[in-house]
Amino acid sequence: MYLSRFLSIHALWVTVSSVMQPYPLVWGHYDVCKTQIYTEEGKVWDYMACQPESTDMTKYLKVKLDPPDITCGDPPETFCAMGNPYMCNNECDASTPELAHPPELMFDFEGRHPSTFWQSATWKEYPKPLQVNITLSWSKTIELTDNIVITFESGRPDQMILEKSLDYGRTWQPYQYYATDCLDAFHMDPKSVKDLSQHTVLEIICTEEYSTGYMTNSKIIHFEIKDRFAFFAGPWLRNMASLYGQLDTTKKLRDFFTVTDLRIRLLRPAVGEIFVDELHLARYFYAISDIKVHGRCKCNLHATVCVYDNSKLTCECEHNTTGPDCGKCKKNYQGRPWSPGSYLPIPKGTANTCIPSISSIGTPPKFNRIWPNISSLEVSNPKQANVCDNELLHCQNGGTCHNNVRCLCPAAYTGILCEKLRCEEAGSCGSDSGQGAAPRGSPALLLLTALLGTASPLVF
Ligand SMILES: *[C@@H]1O[C@H](CO)[C@@H](O)[C@H](O)[C@H]1NC(C)=O
Ligand SMILES: *[C@@H]1O[C@H](CO)[C@@H](O)[C@H](O)[C@H]1NC(C)=O
Ligand SMILES: *[C@@H]1O[C@H](CO)[C@@H](O)[C@H](O)[C@H]1NC(C)=O
Repeated sequence: MYLSRFLSIHALWVTVSSVMQPYPLVWGHYDVCKTQIYTEEGKVWDYMACQPESTDMTKYLKVKLDPPDITCGDPPETFCAMGNPYMCNNECDASTPELAHPPELMFDFEGRHPSTFWQSATWKEYPKPLQVNITLSWSKTIELTDNIVITFESGRPDQMILEKSLDYGRTWQPYQYYATDCLDAFHMDPKSVKDLSQHTVLEIICTEEYSTGYMTNSKIIHFEIKDRFAFFAGPWLRNMASLYGQLDTTKKLRDFFTVTDLRIRLLRPAVGEIFVDELHLARYFYAISDIKVHGRCKCNLHATVCVYDNSKLTCECEHNTTGPDCGKCKKNYQGRPWSPGSYLPIPKGTANTCIPSISSIGTPPKFNRIWPNISSLEVSNPKQANVCDNELLHCQNGGTCHNNVRCLCPAAYTGILCEKLRCEEAGSCGSDSGQGAAPRGSPALLLLTALLGTASPLVF
């Protein structure tokens, strides 16, 4: 009764919000790692998959330009006005704050008029190429949750490559090529993200969509994260379960949206005509007023907090995991191999916590990937191996510990620590709901997850 009333209010709210919000959310919320629940046994912890909120990641990056002296103004030089190539009396002077255009201005607050921007030196050494690498480094793996958006103050470049690194800048892969003429610049056929599909979503494309000439109004270049999510979650990103399912099971897909560094390789400035006007080389330069990168710390679904301390991002790991990305089990919690949390089942996911090491066993028995095999434990050390106790090895989901050798689980649960829903084993979870667990996979809850995502001002 309560539920149906809730759902009808909810349906209304969905209608309203879907009108207002073309993208209800990017990811679910997963904003708590554990809660206390009450069972006949009293209070117990219930653990779930959790992740930090998506946020503006440009606050946490370091920027590096190559060549290092490519910023204009040292020595001072004149350049032509944006949009009016024959008004060439503007000045860039690094030693005068009002006339300087340092790299920080790509990441400052926008919305000021006139806007602030980084600017390169002009193409005075033409025909030697005017090339700049802008490297953004987080020293931390982050997961992108929204489009990367680069706003050019002058024209968008004729040729540019966006690259990513997953190993702190040791190796780089292209993310997307941008050109006015893809075939000519990169020997690639021009494509748009809309030409891709679920099966080709990881393809690296060259797009001509964002590279029209010098005098056009649009200043923006995208790297389309949301359009790629939409191949799995639908055009309104409503079917998040589908996206989560794919991300859980396809490492390549997860890695595609994960970076430690980004590099913008500017290869040729906007020319806007067929020929470069050699008499007015002060017309050609790069200027970027804003770079948007939204994402979250990758904590393997084991943390909701990512702290920025000493210019470094670190996950505050829960579930007895540790490491900058919660990528391993804490000392003394290596009772089974580390595993990332899982988005499924929606909406709480699965925590896959690290469990205490069973120190009384000399040579560790063969563990299966998820849980130690109880009978092999008993065989290798029939008397001493505690499978559960009341201090460290808690039976989960309201299970009780019987003689330290096994958990007596409530009817709906199974597994050595009652960590698994019985229906999951039987593959019949659609039809029932486990004790203490929310009904899973229902469309209403997916939408609820979606709305919770929207309601939070920090989720993009
Ligand atoms: C930019 O990076 C690429 C790849 O490492 C390198 O080949 C190129 O020389 C760099 N360009 C500049 C201007 O430093
Ligand atoms: C992690 O270990 C602490 C004791 O150090 C314990 O209190 C806590 O319940 C454990 N958490 C999980 C998720 O296993
Ligand atoms: C558990 O271990 C016992 C004894 O080593 C073995 O016979 C049994 O097949 C194992 N069960 C599973 C599910 O691996």
